[in-house]
Amino acid sequence: MEDKKTIIVTGGAGFIGSNFVYYMLKKYPFYRIVCLDALTYAGNLSTLKKAIKDHPDNFRFVKGDIRDAELVESLFVEEKPDIVVNFAAESHVDRSILDPQAFLQTNIMGPQVLMDACKKHNVERYHQVSTDEVYGDLPLDRPDLFFTENTNLHASSPYSASKASADLVVMAYHRTYGLPVSISRCSNNYGPYHFPEKLIPLMIINALNDKPLPVYGDGLNVRDWLYVEDHCKAIDMIIHGDCNGEVFNVGGHNEMANIDIVKLILKELGKPESLITFVEDRKGHDRRYAIDPSKIKRELGWEPETKFENGIVKTIQWYLDHKDWWEEIISGEYKNYYDKMYGEKK
Ligand code: NAD
Ligand code: TYD
Repeated sequence: MEDKKTIIVTGGAGFIGSNFVYYMLKKYPFYRIVCLDALTYAGNLSTLKKAIKDHPDNFRFVKGDIRDAELVESLFVEEKPDIVVNFAAESHVDRSILDPQAFLQTNIMGPQVLMDACKKHNVERYHQVSTDEVYGDLPLDRPDLFFTENTNLHASSPYSASKASADLVVMAYHRTYGLPVSISRCSNNYGPYHFPEKLIPLMIINALNDKPLPVYGDGLNVRDWLYVEDHCKAIDMIIHGDCNGEVFNVGGHNEMANIDIVKLILKELGKPESLITFVEDRKGHDRRYAIDPSKIKRELGWEPETKFENGIVKTIQWYLDHKDWWEEIISGEYKNYYDKMYGEKK
């Protein structure tokens, strides 16, 4: 008999959370998936419209804040979740530099509220979606160095500091209360439904609109890119595995300098490199992220499936095919953010 589970996915109207919702609905059609999302600027109900339409019986969307203890309690009473996967967060480093408060509130207090409910309702597993940014950065001239699960937490931005704090609270709930938890620390994701403020979608959209492509500093900062579906697969394996109390790094050894990604996007779209504009660097800009994923490979047999050269072409095509999705976003409140953020950069 199929083991039916109810999973609460918080932040499921955002980039990775929505990809995870679709991944799980496809792979486990007999599961119940409940999405709790506050629909901040980064959450988009239109992203989930296919899930709502195609899965009226086993998908539910609830608009609400993970910090709202009363709402979370009533949702747990109604849904009796087996597993909670927390994607909900303020996720953009640049916004955390402009205004850190929401980051500390959502990213630290939110998990606390969710874990209190998990503890009270004896949930099988609370999974915290964390990030490799909790480890700080690595120097460019030491390509032999990688983040392992034992690397010290050493956050640089208000965003990464809030995520590192949450990881500490998660492990404290495990040790103090015996709450069953797991944490994944993934590298930079890319793919469908990535919010236009982030590097890859921002560059695709600006190139399509023949607008300048703002590259911070010297453009040599390195990120380790993973196709979003491979991240979803890793979380699926962790929540179904014997992983209570474990932390897993997730990454596919795909390090690239920002400038090379920007040039690749321009080439794919047949746009000139003269669109590239070097602008003032991000404050505290992390130089290089690089994940050692050997633990998740060894212990769970996880392997990434999508190579960057294929994933980036698929992603560019997705943005070409879904102009309505991003045009609506960039014509709204996003315009104010863009003008404030990039208007101030020289
Ligand atoms: P995102 O900004 O695209 O989506 C975040 C979602 O959370 C949105 O739908 C938003 O409405 C929701 N949300 C925000 N505050 C909320 C609150 N208080 N209550 C309920 N919902 C709230 O983010 P993303 O890029 O999909 O990232 C998801 C998670 O993965 C985050 O925790 C992030 O730290 C982590 N992560 C992201 C990456 C990446 O490359 N994007 C890499 C590693 C880890
Ligand atoms: P981002 O997508 O914001 O992810 P993160 O900072 O969490 O890694 O940025 C990825 C890299 O791209 C980072 O080094 C900053 C750089 N970047 C630019 O050069 N220009 C931009 O307009 C943006 C948004 C990012």
